[in-house]
Amino acid sequence: MEIREESRENWGTRAGFILAAVGSAVGLGNLWGFPYKLYSFGGGAFLIPYVFALIAIGIPMMILEFSLGHITQRAAPDAFGRLNRKFEVVGWWAIILSFVIMTYYPVILAYCFSFLWYSLKGAFLKQALPWAGAGIEGVKNANDFFYNQFLGYHQDLTLGALQPSLILPLALTWLAAYLCTFKGTKHVGRVVLLTVPLPWIMLLILTVRGMTLPGSAHGLAFYLNPDWSELAEPTTWRYAFGQVFFSLSLAFGVMITYASFLHRKSDLNNNAAIVGLADLATSFIAGLAVFSTLGAMSFASQQAGNPIPVTEVVAGGPGLTFVAFPYALAQLPAAPWFSILFFVTLVTLGIDSAFSISESVLAAIVDKTGWKRSIVLPSIMLIGFLIGLVFITQGGLNWLGIIDGFINGTWGIAFIGCLECLILGWLYRIDRLRLHAND
Ligand code: TRP
Repeated sequence: MEIREESRENWGTRAGFILAAVGSAVGLGNLWGFPYKLYSFGGGAFLIPYVFALIAIGIPMMILEFSLGHITQRAAPDAFGRLNRKFEVVGWWAIILSFVIMTYYPVILAYCFSFLWYSLKGAFLKQALPWAGAGIEGVKNANDFFYNQFLGYHQDLTLGALQPSLILPLALTWLAAYLCTFKGTKHVGRVVLLTVPLPWIMLLILTVRGMTLPGSAHGLAFYLNPDWSELAEPTTWRYAFGQVFFSLSLAFGVMITYASFLHRKSDLNNNAAIVGLADLATSFIAGLAVFSTLGAMSFASQQAGNPIPVTEVVAGGPGLTFVAFPYALAQLPAAPWFSILFFVTLVTLGIDSAFSISESVLAAIVDKTGWKRSIVLPSIMLIGFLIGLVFITQGGLNWLGIIDGFINGTWGIAFIGCLECLILGWLYRIDRLRLHAND
């Protein structure tokens, strides 16, 4: 395979690349996806397949994707196409998956923007947070606010009316993603300098608060004590693998694309390990924060004489995080201020993932067609926004759950992940990639 010598835009520094890769990997998947999957699949039991999948597949596969992108200096479809024309479709399927995520991921971010808005109002107009309340009151309010007032949620699959208050936040999200991307990778390197460390600090504060709430131990017991019977369920394993892929942004073409912008002499293996471990640590801590809070919520219900077990205090599924975190925040002194900090964090955490998804779709199209970046980027973002409107209808959250399930399920990333391994491992000479990586 020829190595392209023409100059390609580069990351400024090694740290720039690591931060960008961490920025893409660490995202809402850690604070939102991970806890809700864990909640649905047996609590602590989920950690075992998860860590296993991370070490057995996640990190090695990241090395593989880094090498492929690095050696070919192309975005995913072209990178595969260079091995053999026939493989190009694998790259495109990955891009299609990215595109699908690109439609609903910003919707979650839009929730964050709105919650941020409520927190700002709380802080500056000295109003109580709309979901505030202590004890069982708070549990009820947090649930009621998110599902009824905020989403106007209904349980069936009909879409129902568009939630007008969410249109603006969704548009804002896209605008922010656009502003971060349109200048190219050098700029990305700089944005993530801020958006990567801030969330960690905030997460630690929330964890400490969660763990000092009365009753948090129940939640932690659920989080850290495996329910072994779940391990016998194939679905638990499948979702654990899916979550690893999702969380590390593997099999979406993103890491291939990012590595293609990497300097010729770069240490791929260490970079992959750093990204993988940073991602795991973030998920784990997010789990501590969420589950200690759930424990406290369940305890509050018990005190009110109507005990609800940890597994039932909030409806599982994609809404989990937007009930548990607000509840925890409302229990802090100066709640609106902490709330602001927290939702700023979520926004910064998600925004770099959101634009890296668009970046991979963009790079694939631009590499393939040679069309102008400045035209393709706004177009795909506009399309993403329009499709996103589906998810902010009354039944939208159900659809979001279904689509997210599809991505993490059989025909989504698991499928591409297997194909990638097969192709790179069997049909292409894996030793060449290995030598390249070890170099
Ligand atoms: N890894 C991101 C997260 O944890 C989500 C994600 C999945 C992603 N696939 C992606 C981000 C592709 C960028 C590109 O939130």
